[in-house]
Amino acid sequence: MVKTSLSLNIKRTGENTIGDIMDDMKLRPAPSLEDAVLSPLGEVSVNRRQFMRYGFNAASGVLAATLGALGFASILLPPSGGGSGDSSVLYWAKGREDEAWYGAKHLQPMLKSDFVNEAANSSIGMSGAQGVWNGLPVIVNYVPHAENSGKPIADNSPRFQEMAGYDIGKNYVGHATEFLLGNPDIFDPNNNLIMSFARCTHLCCIPGWQLVSNSYTDDNWTPGGGDDGGSKMFCICHSSRFDPTAIEVNRNANRSTGASFEYLGIRRAGGPAPVGLPMIPIIMNGDTIEASSDYTGWLTYCD
Ligand code: FES
Repeated sequence: MVKTSLSLNIKRTGENTIGDIMDDMKLRPAPSLEDAVLSPLGEVSVNRRQFMRYGFNAASGVLAATLGALGFASILLPPSGGGSGDSSVLYWAKGREDEAWYGAKHLQPMLKSDFVNEAANSSIGMSGAQGVWNGLPVIVNYVPHAENSGKPIADNSPRFQEMAGYDIGKNYVGHATEFLLGNPDIFDPNNNLIMSFARCTHLCCIPGWQLVSNSYTDDNWTPGGGDDGGSKMFCICHSSRFDPTAIEVNRNANRSTGASFEYLGIRRAGGPAPVGLPMIPIIMNGDTIEASSDYTGWLTYCD
């Protein structure tokens, strides 16, 4: 497998481009308990159904189409001038995300200890946050892999799962274990952190993601990388779900050229997205979460 690397030639399309873009991506109002009780479907506590209902509307479709046309290069911006360097990952908590646990940390460097502290509030020990890295939207999730990987696989005992991956045509692409044997620098499961690109593989939306440990998602986990369990990343545009614990090799294509590439990513668990989200390798600098730009070719599907 060829490592696809894209030079980060920074293109600044406007002084506040990333802010302008992400300002438009505020979360829609989360479904309320009252909504659940009054739902004609009779659903009381299945948040996923509520996300489905809130996700399908014309406004989000227009938004997704607009963002998809912007392309990868147009959202690349120089790193912040705060001296944190272009490898640092910063929290993004503008808009509705300011109600998330990292709401007061907007544009502050992501620290692993923050995720550990937040995971202590979860019954399954997971946490997640939206971020920005080199101007790109990203998501970081904490999974208590090191603590659970030696235990029998069971519900609510989350750990990273290395799985076989299949493309949109259901063709086998590869297995994550085999891939990682040849590319161990990409992912260290015992670091308990995983980072992925945050443009949905459905219509390239950059949504306000509903993340694990968000108060609107179910705090539970089931093994297998399927659609059960609440520990998913929800794209609020059309409610695609991705399992941050399920790692697979997959295949995607550049929307303009059709050129396909294989990548290591997290599994699509449900919804209209055809394939999973590509990973971005994490580099730890003490407690600070940084990232490698060696595999940015995996992020080009929206170009
Ligand atoms: S853009 Fe449609 S589900 Fe994410």
